[in-house]
Amino acid sequence: MSHKIWLMEGLSSQRDIINGITSTAKKHNYNVSIYASHRQSRNEILSLADHALIEPNDINQRLEFILSTVKKYAIQAIHTGRHAHWFEAHRAAIEPSGAHLTTGARDVAMLDLADDKVAFAHHMKSLNLPVVPSLRVDSPVQLRELIARKPFGDLPLCVKPVTGIYGMGFWQFDESVSPMAAFTHPDARRVKAEYYLQALEAVDSMEPLVLMPYLPGPEYSVDMLAENGKVLAAVARRKEGALQYLENSGEAFELAQACAAAMGADGLINVQTRNDASGKPLLLEINMRPSGGIGYTRFSGVNLPGLFALRQLGLISQQQVLDDARRDFTPATVRALSDVVAYNPVLSNQVQ
Ligand SMILES: Nc1ncnc2c1ncn2[C@@H]1O[C@H](COP(=O)(O)OP(=O)(O)O)[C@@H](O)[C@H]1O
Ligand SMILES: [Mg+2]
Repeated sequence: MSHKIWLMEGLSSQRDIINGITSTAKKHNYNVSIYASHRQSRNEILSLADHALIEPNDINQRLEFILSTVKKYAIQAIHTGRHAHWFEAHRAAIEPSGAHLTTGARDVAMLDLADDKVAFAHHMKSLNLPVVPSLRVDSPVQLRELIARKPFGDLPLCVKPVTGIYGMGFWQFDESVSPMAAFTHPDARRVKAEYYLQALEAVDSMEPLVLMPYLPGPEYSVDMLAENGKVLAAVARRKEGALQYLENSGEAFELAQACAAAMGADGLINVQTRNDASGKPLLLEINMRPSGGIGYTRFSGVNLPGLFALRQLGLISQQQVLDDARRDFTPATVRALSDVVAYNPVLSNQVQ
């Protein structure tokens, strides 16, 4: 019997997810067909699937497209990467088709909470989960006042957007750097507070910011497979310089799992922490979707996308996932490289 899983438009890791599922299916000799879709001609992703589809751009056509595709190809499971909120809001309309839906959570409120870093921090604090102290800033005046007031004593300060992604907009305030630092070494993300404030005061409207103490690290990014708040498998990546150390124990690893459980995480998700000066991990954020680095975790022997697919297709039990993830893990060190692949402008596997 053929098992069919459909990966809809996601973020950067869709290729790694397809590769992970393919390799697991091959290893266990399961007949799994992978459907992949995207609104754009992302042929470097779509060509890896058994069957490729182009998603409609018009949101009003999305539900009909999903229902007709599920029916036509007898799809059993849908994984969404983008538009999680929309999908979760339409769960009741999608699941009667017979396809099980994964959006990152089973509750739109949790997806919304994950998208607001200040609300998330307050929620974690209310549950006694250690989280980076986070102050919301809505105006340049407010930021100027807060910086002058030193809300976190002598700890260095940093900011990021309340609803950010990809680390965009993160800046550390550092009075020791050159006034030109933001231009000459943008990747270091250090700026004198005064120049940041001047730029902020010059814009017409600003995106809300989170003001936090700067945490020295190291940083952990923990990729997990969860089902309705139950974490079945997890791999932590400790980031130090250019290297990432794959681990499956420790305080950050445990904290990340407690966070995922508290958020009712469902699917392939990611939690990030960073150690404070005393070495204690604090939560930074939860991404209710696969991280960009989920593919790196396979070097630990644990194939999270593969386990996800086998669960969604009803091929293994929760207990088997728990056992496999424990048994298969071995520590590993990885280094991320930017890669290049051949891009074929023609998709030979496209279906309607
Ligand atoms: N309080 C902090 N101290 C030090 N670094 C931080 C802090 N908050 C965020 N960062 C850095 O900024 C990056 C992006 O922040 P994060 O909360 O993961 O948001 P996103 O990934 O959604 O942009 C983190 O990976 C981390 O390296
Ligand atoms: Mg992040």
